[in-house]
Amino acid sequence: MTASTSASASASPTAASPTEWWRSAVIYQVYIRSFRDADGDGIGDVAGIRERLPYLCALGVDALWITPWYPSPMADAGYDVADYRAIEPSFGTLASARSLITEAHALGMRVILDIVPNHTSDQHAWFQAALAAAPGSPERARYMFRAGRGADGAQPPNDWRSVFGGPAWTRVTEADGTPGEWYLHLFAPEQPDLDWEHPEVRAEFESILRFWFDLGVDGFRIDVAHGMIKDPALPDLGLDEEEILAPPASEDHPHWDLDGVHEIYRSWRAIADSYEPPRIFVAEAWTRNQERLARYLRADELHTAFNFDYLRAPWQAQQLRAVIEESIAAAASVDAPPTWVLSNHDVVRHVSRFARPQDGIPRHALTEIAALGAPDLELGTRRARAAALLMLALPGRAYVYQGEELGLPEVEDLPDAALQDPTWERSGHTERGRDGCRVPLPWRARPDDSTGFSIIPATAAPWLPQPDDWASWSEERQHDDPDSMLSLYRTALHIRRAHPVTDTSRLRWLEAPADVIAFERTPELACVVNFGADPVPLPDGAEVLLASAAGFTQDDPPTAIGPDEAIWFTPAGA
Ligand code: GLC
Repeated sequence: MTASTSASASASPTAASPTEWWRSAVIYQVYIRSFRDADGDGIGDVAGIRERLPYLCALGVDALWITPWYPSPMADAGYDVADYRAIEPSFGTLASARSLITEAHALGMRVILDIVPNHTSDQHAWFQAALAAAPGSPERARYMFRAGRGADGAQPPNDWRSVFGGPAWTRVTEADGTPGEWYLHLFAPEQPDLDWEHPEVRAEFESILRFWFDLGVDGFRIDVAHGMIKDPALPDLGLDEEEILAPPASEDHPHWDLDGVHEIYRSWRAIADSYEPPRIFVAEAWTRNQERLARYLRADELHTAFNFDYLRAPWQAQQLRAVIEESIAAAASVDAPPTWVLSNHDVVRHVSRFARPQDGIPRHALTEIAALGAPDLELGTRRARAAALLMLALPGRAYVYQGEELGLPEVEDLPDAALQDPTWERSGHTERGRDGCRVPLPWRARPDDSTGFSIIPATAAPWLPQPDDWASWSEERQHDDPDSMLSLYRTALHIRRAHPVTDTSRLRWLEAPADVIAFERTPELACVVNFGADPVPLPDGAEVLLASAAGFTQDDPPTAIGPDEAIWFTPAGA
């Protein structure tokens, strides 16, 4: 490898305004149920997040994204919202949420919430009213109620499938006890889809946005941002099954990524921009390609979107480099920053993804990943350490999913009886679902409190069981260990902060062999990742800043980059 450079793709090199914090922020995802339990009931809560704010601040993240904390019957772990303007009682109170926002701001961190506009809970007042009302009533018009097919209406209106398995329609029993209409639920039956053509639905969500923005919330992650508009003809799809949260299977899909969603986001953007400082959005949008994703990021729509192509990319230099180039170019075409994410609450944790042979096929669900064989967690961890340095060196915005900074693997052997993801039941016990990445975090490593999830002695076990050896990954164990994953993330985040990128639309690649990725984040900070089987020498004159390999010290820096390792360095002459 030489330190000479090759020019990169650059669509529109508009320098980001320094006031636009969101362009290069690192956002920490708090999956509230599993983050920190303050009251000992085995369920994470708002007070638990508040207790960990100094930890997050010391880690060096810029903002938190908190997954749904609204009252919910928890049919889908909070993504079934019964009341959008309150806090789930087992999580806390509105007063406590308000304090959290104030305290995070005082520490210089922003707070992003999760809004779930595609569907409500079946316990939401609107849906309860719809069930009580008659076919054709205004109450039913806010949801997608339709007559069934067949002479007696006993067949669902079309062949759409729920993302969690089974049909996407459920038939209701009318007030007189007869089998009645069907309602659409792209997810669980407890998550009825709203009809976004209805003006009351639009007005209600605009009002919900204002409610939280008025409370000081800095932005929203939009759940299923690509799903709200459906083809009004509700045509058959002709597919046997829908893959769980994956790019749409066909080009003219009747309910994913329809052009009509963009009008909704234009009105949301106007609301966000009317605040001082302006509030921001991030889309959870599964699209066919980066070009379709960029459409959500046009100047008058959303600010950023998750980069699921990057998340799903196998640990391979060529594929990752291609995704990086394409992501930067697509985002730059609409003057948006690229974003990078390795894990979240819906996918197998990346330590465990990378612990398997990488055959080049993008995937993220447990069943398909487990089919690749038993995990080699030592290998997965080595790659995850290198992946952290790769992601955090890239220009743009990055996401850290809680526990990734502790190097947590997926818990693949949860007992069947413990599984809570609706996917498990709805797939007829063929898909184990997403619980394995949602196991409550291990904070402490004391013999009398092996889990360390709860602040006070717990009266109930964590809502998902923690593995026996979970304490070995605890924050307490890792805190002072210079070789821990936690120390690597903390150091990397602090170095990253000292090397801000103003123009996120370009990347300066360094020449490197085919199985090596090398680039400059800034003239003073370069990153090399070795995906090959042999060590790669350091560039001449490189001053190593950080290495993913355990045992790194600045006094005795490495002279080569081993397989599945990464280093950050200052190039000679910088
Ligand atoms: C999003 C969430 C996922 C949830 C689904 C339905 O994809 O990330 O956890 O199950 O939406 O709301």
